[in-house]
Amino acid sequence: MEKIFVKPNGPLKGSVRISGAKNAALPIIAASILGTEEIVLEDIPELKDVEVITEVLRRLGLKIEKNKNTLKIDPRGLNTAKTDYELISKMRASFLVMGPLLAKMKEAYNSLPGGCNIGSRPIDLHLKGFKALGAEIEMTHGEIRATCEKLVGAKIYLDFPSVGATENIMTAAVLAEGETIIENCAMEPEIVDLANFLNKMGARVTGAGTSTIRIKGVEKLTGCTHQIIPDRIEAGTFMVAAAITGGDILIENIITSHLKPVIAKLEESGAQIIEEGDNVRVIGSETIKPLEIKTLPHPGFPTDLQAQFMALLTQADGQSSIIETVFENRFMHADELKKMGAKIKVIDREAVLLGKNKLYGSKVSATDLRAGAALILAALVSEGETEISEIYHIDRGYENIEEKFRNLGANITRIDV
Ligand code: EPZ
Repeated sequence: MEKIFVKPNGPLKGSVRISGAKNAALPIIAASILGTEEIVLEDIPELKDVEVITEVLRRLGLKIEKNKNTLKIDPRGLNTAKTDYELISKMRASFLVMGPLLAKMKEAYNSLPGGCNIGSRPIDLHLKGFKALGAEIEMTHGEIRATCEKLVGAKIYLDFPSVGATENIMTAAVLAEGETIIENCAMEPEIVDLANFLNKMGARVTGAGTSTIRIKGVEKLTGCTHQIIPDRIEAGTFMVAAAITGGDILIENIITSHLKPVIAKLEESGAQIIEEGDNVRVIGSETIKPLEIKTLPHPGFPTDLQAQFMALLTQADGQSSIIETVFENRFMHADELKKMGAKIKVIDREAVLLGKNKLYGSKVSATDLRAGAALILAALVSEGETEISEIYHIDRGYENIEEKFRNLGANITRIDV
């Protein structure tokens, strides 16, 4: 089993180039099902999750050629609406093929996506959207079947601005008859990237990035070439690396408008942020000031950077608080950080960090991909060696993570033990 070993090695310095965004790549790869001509996707990160969804599409009949960070997809081979159950259970984001299959094949069969460590991950809002568009939904023994004669545009209100539900409804609606309005939809940058991709293929999506998306159905979508936006969560992870080690890191290939709450919080903690076009320089400060953080749907503070900031705040001078409003169980990394010496009290959806405590290298395990990144960050400033297991979580969301940290001066290795 592979493990990551980290020893402290002083402030991280140098530059790191951010990869394409996992959470833009996954829905866009799934939406390729809607095309009728070749699709070329650039800046696709080399991640386990991307491998899984690419395999899901191959088993649906699509031809996909991968050349490092470029995918060439020919959707014309699509020959079934039945996804591979074993693959869906491997990665819940494969559920994002439901909308495109329903639109293209008028049916879609999936196994129900499982929950995961951070929450039950329901799909009620996805199904609410499909039904509103005219689909029949049957659920038996963990399998879900959506069928329709045709899809007709509808007005859909999302009780929670779910990212996945917004994406699945968008991709179902682009070929529906008439107009669809999605209200209280997700506003994440990855939603905007998906809308841009769909529009390049001939869709008529407006309002992405706001709380109301309008989609005018069209007959068919063609193909296109699309470059995936940079990964704001990976970028935020390395920004925290500069702050926690008191280092100086140039983060390349970043869209700063995607990271406003993260930049604001890092500046509040005392880090210096210098925006230089597509790059951001982060200079950590001697002392880290405590913070009050509340995760919210975009444009609020991203839940996917909550664990990384918890690692940072174990080194803050004073008491900090983190409130997690998006997922019901996303504090499992707190127990791992406590093994390293952090003083953290978790009560329901709030974690209180009781100020700076020396951290000690320990045997810890990643509980989800962002928690794994948080443990690396904490290990960079712990005395002694930290051994991180369950690192398959990390490989789901971070491309060449050790290499990127090593190039910044970190003492980090991956060993198969
Ligand atoms: C996406 O997950 C991301 N994954 C997650 O990133 C991210 O944490 C999350 O959005 C929130 O930003 C991908 O994009 C592949 P949601 P998703 O539907 O779509 C509730 C990472 O680390 N909900 O916005 O599953 C749900 O229970 C991953 O890269 C319903 O109640 O998130 C949760 O509490 C982790 N009913 C909240 O909404 C539904 O039908 C947010 O979920 C759907 C969701």
